[in-house]
Amino acid sequence: MVDYSKLFSEGEPVLFLDQKDREYYDILKSGKQKNIRGDILIHDEIIGKQEGFRLISKRNNFFRVFRPTLAEYTRLMRRGAQVIYAKDISHILVWADIYPGAKVVECGLGSGALTSFLLRAVGGRGKVISYEIRPDFINNATKNIDTFVGLKKNHTVREIDIYEQFVDKNVDRLILDVPEPWRAVASAADALRPGAVLCSYSPTILQVRDFVQKLHELKTFTRIQTHEIMLREWKVDDVSVRPMLRMVAHTAFLTTARKYQVD
Ligand SMILES: C[S@@+](CC[C@H](N)C(=O)[O-])C[C@H]1O[C@@H](n2cnc3c(N)ncnc32)[C@H](O)[C@@H]1O
Repeated sequence: MVDYSKLFSEGEPVLFLDQKDREYYDILKSGKQKNIRGDILIHDEIIGKQEGFRLISKRNNFFRVFRPTLAEYTRLMRRGAQVIYAKDISHILVWADIYPGAKVVECGLGSGALTSFLLRAVGGRGKVISYEIRPDFINNATKNIDTFVGLKKNHTVREIDIYEQFVDKNVDRLILDVPEPWRAVASAADALRPGAVLCSYSPTILQVRDFVQKLHELKTFTRIQTHEIMLREWKVDDVSVRPMLRMVAHTAFLTTARKYQVD
């Protein structure tokens, strides 16, 4: 777990930036070395230091050493399933209105990227419950979560097929990141309290269409909105001020809906 009040210590993730701002990643371990294209960085020269310092490699190159931000970490973490990227997670946190103290259910856990942000956002008074069908993914995600945000008493993982079973009730916010979200809509409606927000993340628009159709059929959801987030980075220096030549053109669509009380 990353502890910002302390100096670098064993077991925490670390980000190296070279002089061209290229990034490299590792988990700190005493006695370990990081090999970057034949050049060597020594972990023991990092442990006990404050982040941001300049580390000199065996070949006399400079690297700045940081704790990755959570967004950087989720990009670099060990993958079981494909993670949701920061541009979409930031949208989920705002449009699904994740708040301190909320009871949030997410389906599925995957690599634990979204979970890590949800745990931060709900804080100690809130709860995150993650449904996941694959035990190997649960194992990997748990390690990922532990490495950065730490294992929390307010995080529960349920090894369950959400199309078959759903055990939680009175849920404030529910996030779906599964291949067939329309199959979970009826259970989600049952689990959510009136006024709650449902949010689904789907890579293809056909998934969105089927999901939204199901929402309409149930007649307990309103304010159904679908968004796609495009993030374009710019290069800004003296001679060249322009958009970067490459970007991630598409990840997924995000649909949110509000549950109402049936009169
Ligand atoms: C794309 S991944 C989720 C990634 C996760 N949101 C993250 O940011 O790391 C989708 C996950 O849903 C799980 N899943 C698929 N169908 C499921 C089901 N019926 N019940 C529970 N989990 C399911 C998969 O095993 C996979 O781990």
